[in-house]
Amino acid sequence: MASDEKPDFDAVRNDFPRATTAAYFDNASSHPLSVHSAAALHRYIDWVTHEVGEPWWPSWAGSRDDAKQLFAELINARPEDIAFARSAVEAESNLLNGMREHLAGGNIVTHDLHYAASLYNYKMREQESACSGRGDGESLRIVKHRDWQIDYRDMERAIDSNTKLVSITLVSNVNGYLSDVKAISDLAHAHGAYLYVDIIQGVGAVPVDVQAMGIDFAACSTFKWLMGVKGFGFLYVRSELQETVVKPTQHCGGLSFNYAPWVEEPDPDVAEYAFTPTPGPSCYEVSYPSYEGAICAQESLKYIQRLGVHNIRNHVRTLTDRLMEELPALGYPAITPKGNESPIVSFTAPDPAETMVKLRNAGVHVAMRYGNKMRIAPSVFNNQEDVSRLLEALA
Ligand SMILES: Cc1ncc(COP(=O)(O)O)c(C=O)c1O
Repeated sequence: MASDEKPDFDAVRNDFPRATTAAYFDNASSHPLSVHSAAALHRYIDWVTHEVGEPWWPSWAGSRDDAKQLFAELINARPEDIAFARSAVEAESNLLNGMREHLAGGNIVTHDLHYAASLYNYKMREQESACSGRGDGESLRIVKHRDWQIDYRDMERAIDSNTKLVSITLVSNVNGYLSDVKAISDLAHAHGAYLYVDIIQGVGAVPVDVQAMGIDFAACSTFKWLMGVKGFGFLYVRSELQETVVKPTQHCGGLSFNYAPWVEEPDPDVAEYAFTPTPGPSCYEVSYPSYEGAICAQESLKYIQRLGVHNIRNHVRTLTDRLMEELPALGYPAITPKGNESPIVSFTAPDPAETMVKLRNAGVHVAMRYGNKMRIAPSVFNNQEDVSRLLEALA
């Protein structure tokens, strides 16, 4: 199916068996696999278990290249700009380490709707730099949200000519707040700073175009809206910044020995240990990426491409719009801004424990975070009956 055709979302439901076991709305925690990804994974597991079929690994290794290509297409990048990553948080951390020289003595601007583990990383780095007494680290500015959204003017006040990096999430995992990435990018670039965007809560569910949005670096893993597994993901580094602004901090490549007994006749023009630094984004990769991750991603990225991100968005919007309309009337005020274009909507629960019991008893899965923040994150397989089940449980 071409992505401009409207998919049959009733049929999509059949691709996700979890849709029949519960009204599962916790996709922002972990998205289920489709039967297609699961089948591909089973084929691989059969192969590694029994070594049947293809007696060598190139066809499986091809899944990695395919996954990279498909991900690049999804975010309008080139495969040459993409490295495999194990985790969004790890990729962001590696990026910061690789940017040490660039960041030294400057400031980093972020906000409190960025992922808490990332903010923790920034605070730890700030603390370590202060404790070391070297004073060569970067200082941190965390912009506080106002009424669960980031005010552009607050970012404007925080970013100055000494800002080296602005770090944000595309979609907040707390309330689904969708950042105006292009505006923040323009602001960062006008001050000579770069922009990192954690895209894990958006990519696959909302349109991402790194070029149009002016994103310099981005990362995600695949277990949320890319419908894959944990421990496998992607890092995007704009090509001009590879190895210049972002240095590799871990190294992995080939080495040859030019001395006996490794070789019969050592070549006098070659060093004893000969190696060439790994070029391109692979310089940020260490050893083998997860084949299981790549195989799932290959299937799910093809699946997302077939459905089309705009169609996914249109489908999910009908569900989140209804939740935004009806839950406040039941006593659950929204902490997601109205008209926000993401698949996550969050509400304050007056009695979180009781709410969770009611939902569990009705077979409805949501996340309750930060005490009383109920996060509901529908995806392609959810339908209006799922929403009715949730609303009726809380009515
Ligand atoms: C916004 C955001 N960033 C990062 C992560 C963690 O991702 P990873 O396991 O790939 O580091 C999460 C997980 O919930 C998240 O919501």
